[in-house]
Amino acid sequence: MRIVSGIQPTGNLHLGNYLGAIRNWVKMQDEVTGGGGQCLYFLADLHAISMPHDPAQLSANTREMVAALVACGIDPEKSVLFNQAQVPAHAELQWLLNGTARTGWLNRMTQWKDKAGKNREGASVALYTYPVLQAADVLLYQATHVPVGDDQKQHLELARDIAQKFNNDFADEGAPVFTLPEPTIPPEAARIMSLRDGLAKMSKSDSSDMSRINLIDDADTIMSKIRKAKTDPEVLPSDKAGLDGRAEAANLVGIYAAMAGKTVDAVLAQYGGAGFGRFKPALGELLVETLAPINARFVSLREDGEALDAVLAKGALRARELAAPTLSAAYQALGLVRF
Ligand code: TYM
Repeated sequence: MRIVSGIQPTGNLHLGNYLGAIRNWVKMQDEVTGGGGQCLYFLADLHAISMPHDPAQLSANTREMVAALVACGIDPEKSVLFNQAQVPAHAELQWLLNGTARTGWLNRMTQWKDKAGKNREGASVALYTYPVLQAADVLLYQATHVPVGDDQKQHLELARDIAQKFNNDFADEGAPVFTLPEPTIPPEAARIMSLRDGLAKMSKSDSSDMSRINLIDDADTIMSKIRKAKTDPEVLPSDKAGLDGRAEAANLVGIYAAMAGKTVDAVLAQYGGAGFGRFKPALGELLVETLAPINARFVSLREDGEALDAVLAKGALRARELAAPTLSAAYQALGLVRF
């Protein structure tokens, strides 16, 4: 098994990133590396320049994100942890795949439509070709599995389409250049919603900090965000069907279930009939208990910028080695002469 996934270093890790993706990264790292597989996790700093950004902030965020991932349990001795900018093969393979990806496919990407909004003419070319770079990220390493939240599923389907078309058009029969990657999406918590609006995804780009729990929030902040989270006046139902049409309640129960490692039905068996006055403090305490150790590790790790840079340098060295054979095979398949 070859596990590959990335995260944009555009600010703090939030609970959606953690439950939707990073927790799975850690789990897969511990399962896969014991059995001879390999995990590569990277900071998608090249993706981050697709939106307006402050260069100094991007470098600072990249280091902070390394500290956050290590604090969550990514072990640079077990996993290859790096940033795209130090592995030029990502950008190179993207260009090679640009010949295969179709504009019609990119036009259908919901993230492109959402982020470009009404101002498509003013959006960067990088925002449009973003999913091709994402395809390069995983195809470069022959990824078999890609642990992500639900919002990345469409990008991964595109990566499969690109791999398949490239193999069909350019690879010799029976010797594909690229492996078709499978997305691994958690059954609970695949899409954590905003604490202020149960129909919007929890996101770094939401202007209200009250909409998300950041992994670096302290205990008081977490308790207060949960206390003020939007809900409805009803008590909790005793089964999952009773959450239909109650997006905010469903989100909070889903977060509780994911944090406690229980099913939604098991949580409702315990809290059915309870009001939010009882449920919210229980959820807040569960969050604080789980996040406090991560928070403490993060605060101490981020102090040592040199150690974080060393982690990235070592990871990039290994990633460059692992990327080389597939990049060469792609150049060769396309008939590009390189000596
Ligand atoms: P990014 O940085 O937005 O998010 C990182 C991971 O967190 C997941 N996630 C969520 N899961 C559940 N609920 C939420 N509210 C939530 N918000 C974010 C995302 O699904 C993702 O798994 N384009 C990617 C980064 C990327 C990548 C890749 C991922 C670049 N190349 C190659 C996988 C493979 C992104 O912007 O994720």
